[in-house]
Amino acid sequence: MNGGIGQNISRLDGPAKVTGRARYAADMPADELVHAVIVPATRPKARITAMDLAAASAMPGVIHIFTHRNTPQFGRVTVPLAGETVLPLQDDHVRYEGQAVALVVADTLEQATEAARRVQVAYRDETFQAGFLAALDRAEAVSEFFGIPLNRSKGDVPAAWAEADARVENTYRTADRHHGAMEPGATLAIWHDGKLLVHDATQGVVDAQTCLAQALQLDPASIRVKTEFIGGGFGGKGWGWPYQILAAMAARELGRAVKLVLTRAQSFTAHGYQPATRQIVALSARADGTLTGIRHDTIAAGSFVGEHIEAAGWDTHPLYAWPSFSASHRIVRLDRGNPAAMRSPFGGVGLVAVESAMDELAYALGMDPLELRLKNHAEFDPADGLKFSSKKLRECYALGAEKFGWSNRLAAPRSMRDGRDLVGYGMATALLRAFRFPAKARVSIDRTGQVQVETGTQDVGQGLSTIIPQIAADALGVPVTRVALALGDTTLPAAPFTGGSSATMSVGSAVQDAAERLKSKLTEAGANGPEGYPGALAALAADRLSADGAWSPAEGEASAAIFSFGAIFAEVRVDRDIPIPRVRRVVGFYSAGKIINPRTARSQMTGGIIWGIGQALLERSEMDADLGRFLSKNFSGYLVPTNADVQEIDASFVEEFDAHASPLGARGIGELGALGVAPAIANAVFHATGIRVREVPIRPEHLMATG
Ligand code: MOS
Repeated sequence: MNGGIGQNISRLDGPAKVTGRARYAADMPADELVHAVIVPATRPKARITAMDLAAASAMPGVIHIFTHRNTPQFGRVTVPLAGETVLPLQDDHVRYEGQAVALVVADTLEQATEAARRVQVAYRDETFQAGFLAALDRAEAVSEFFGIPLNRSKGDVPAAWAEADARVENTYRTADRHHGAMEPGATLAIWHDGKLLVHDATQGVVDAQTCLAQALQLDPASIRVKTEFIGGGFGGKGWGWPYQILAAMAARELGRAVKLVLTRAQSFTAHGYQPATRQIVALSARADGTLTGIRHDTIAAGSFVGEHIEAAGWDTHPLYAWPSFSASHRIVRLDRGNPAAMRSPFGGVGLVAVESAMDELAYALGMDPLELRLKNHAEFDPADGLKFSSKKLRECYALGAEKFGWSNRLAAPRSMRDGRDLVGYGMATALLRAFRFPAKARVSIDRTGQVQVETGTQDVGQGLSTIIPQIAADALGVPVTRVALALGDTTLPAAPFTGGSSATMSVGSAVQDAAERLKSKLTEAGANGPEGYPGALAALAADRLSADGAWSPAEGEASAAIFSFGAIFAEVRVDRDIPIPRVRRVVGFYSAGKIINPRTARSQMTGGIIWGIGQALLERSEMDADLGRFLSKNFSGYLVPTNADVQEIDASFVEEFDAHASPLGARGIGELGALGVAPAIANAVFHATGIRVREVPIRPEHLMATG
C-alpha cells in the first residue's frame, strides 16, 4: 500500500495530536510574552458613561488597559469574511452583551484575568431587543449573500397551491446554536521590527491576514499569519473576529508578543453562532405525489454589527423537480453579536424544514416517504435547467434503504414497538452546494526522494493533512510516507479558507496540479518512474526541484449544477413513559464524487452525523430576552451529544468520479455529514410517537403525551 488516492490510511497528524506534540496557536513560543484578557460588556445595549481603571491598573503585573478612550482608530474591515464590521473599543456604544469594552494586558494570564474583573464600567442602558421570536415583525428583506442571489421565484406557486390535490404548509423553527470547538479562539500576536507575526486558530490564514491588514491599516505583506493545528472550527474560526484584531492591535501598540485566548464563556459571544430561524414551507402536489409547488420563506436572526444571513432556502431549489418554486429570506436585526456559518449552515438549517415538510406531505398523500422523494427526483436543477455534474442519489436511496431495512417499516405512526419503546423510522435527503475557490500549491522533491507539499491551507481537524500527501503521492507514484506537508502559513502559496466543504476540490486539485507538473519536470530530466527521481535531480545538478500548481473553479466546467447528495435513515426509540428520544442508529449513504481516503472520509461523516444528532435533540443556546444574553455559556447548559447519546452510525459512499467538480473527481464532504440528519430524526420521532415536532432541538417536553 503506497497510500495513494482511494486508500484507507490512518490520519497522518494523529500521532502528533495524541502524544501532545501538536502545537496549537496558544502553544507557540514567544519571547517576553504578555497576556490579554477581554472585559466583556454586561449589557446588550448601552452607552458607557464612565470607566474606573484605578483598581485594575494598580494590580500587580498590569501593563496596559485598552478602552475606547485610548485604542487607536481601526480601518474599515470590508472583507467578505469579516465576522463583525462594527469593531469594539472605538466608541462608547455597547452593541451586544459580551462585546469587548476593555482589554487588559498583564505579565501573566492570572494577573490579566484578575485585573479585568476589577475594571469598573458605568453604563446607561438603552432599550434593546435580543429575543428573536418576539421581533419577527421587524424582519427586513435581504436579497443576496456573498454576491449570490438568495431569493428565487419561478412558475406560479399560488396557482399550483390552488389546484393541488394535497397541500401542507407549516412553520418550523431552528435554535440558536454555538460552535463548541474543543480549542477556543486563540491569537498570539507578535510585533517585531514593524512586522506582525500572528499564530491564530483560524480556518483561513489569508483572510485573517487581510482582515488584520484592513483593521490595523497595515500592508498585508507586513503581516504573517500561521496556524499549524486547529482544535475544531465548524465555521467559528472561519471569519475575522474582533478578538483577533484586539490582540494584534495590542501587540503593535505595546511592541511585543500578546496572547489572547477566549474563555469558554467568551466563545459564546466572540465568534458568532448559528442564528435561530423561523421557516415556513408550503408544498403542493398531485394525488400521485408529483410536486406542483414549493414555497420556502425564511426569517433568520441577525445583528447590527455584521451581515450574516442564515440562508436556509438558498439550496432548496435543486432538491426536487418542481414546476413552481419560490424562496425568500428576511433577517431580524437584534442587539446581539453577529452570527456566522456553523456546520452545516444554510441548507443544513433549511433541510430541517423542507425535509420535515416532505414527510408531512407523504402522510397527507398516504405515500411512503422514500417513494415520494423518488417520485420527485430531480435530474437537473429546475431553477436554471442545468444538469447536475454527477448525481448518484438514486443509488444512495436504494443502498441506504437496504442497509437500514427501510422495507420493514410499518406505515402508520405509533405502529412499531419493542417492549416499552415506541420505535420510529424516518428518512431525509441531504444536499450540499459545492463551494470551490482558487488555490495554489507547490510540490518539491530532494535528492533523497523526499517530497514536500506547501500550501497555505488549514486543517481544522477534518483530515486534510492526510489526504493532501495522498494526492501528491498518487500523482508522483511515491509512497505517502515520503511526503511531508507544510500548511497554515501566509508565506506559502495562497489557499482559501477551510470552509464551505471546499478544501478537497480546491486545494487538493492545486496540489495534484503541482505534483503532476513536478513529475513532468522529472520525466523531462530523464526519470523513467519514481526510482529515477534522484537520478534526474543529479542530472540537473539540483539539490531540490519544485513545481508550482494552481487550480481555480473557472478551469472546471461551469455549466453544471454541482452538489453533493445523501440519503439519511434514522431509527429513534422513545420510551412510552419517559419520552426522551434516543437515536438507535443512523445510516447515511452519500454521493460525493471520488473519495480520496474512505477511512478519514467515513470518520468525518460519522462526526457530522453526531453533529446532526445534536441539532435534532440537544443543541440550543437559549437567549434570555430580558437580560439580552445567551443564558448558558458553558457545556452544562449547552448540550452536545456525548457517547451515551450516540449508538450505531453507518456512513458509506457510492463509487463516483465527478470530473466537472474537480480534476480529482471529488466533491465536498465536510458539511455533508450533518445534513439531513435532524429532519430524518424528527421524522422518525413522528413515526414513533405520532407527535409532529416542528422545532429543533426536539425535547422531552415536546413528547409528553406519548403514553
Ligand atoms: Mo464552514 S460552517 O463554512 O466552516
